[in-house]
Amino acid sequence: MSDAKALLKKARAAKCNSYSPYSKFSVGAAVITQDGKVFCGTNVENASYGLSLCAERVAIFNAISSGSKEILAIAVTCPESHKESSLMPCGACLQVIAEFSSTKTTIIIDHVGEFKLTELLTKPFNIKSENN
Ligand code: THU
Repeated sequence: MSDAKALLKKARAAKCNSYSPYSKFSVGAAVITQDGKVFCGTNVENASYGLSLCAERVAIFNAISSGSKEILAIAVTCPESHKESSLMPCGACLQVIAEFSSTKTTIIIDHVGEFKLTELLTKPFNIKSENN
């Protein structure tokens, strides 16, 4: 099994834990970090809708919380019923991916394909100076 397929399998498993009673749209994500560890996430909604978190950010924050800071790849999957229309990560998630990625980082979208972050977010916000 390719690395991308293995990561998608983890994302699909995470999707089963989605807490999405409001949108009924379950999303799963899995990241692999530079140290070879895999972290998963799913979307977690709230009755106060704006507090909801996307699967991608949950997976990334899970990685950061465990001490892994560089994302090599992130795989994202959405409901089978939506597989014909693509689920691309939202702008907020792309900005968070940018924080912890390198030029090599790959974004794998189930049923769609693979992208480099720079294809999806051409000009991320960045306040880090070269001295930091
Ligand atoms: N969602 C994600 O988890 N990731 C995305 O990239 C876009 C949207 C979630 C948020 C919300 O729980 C549901 O999908 C519907 O917007």
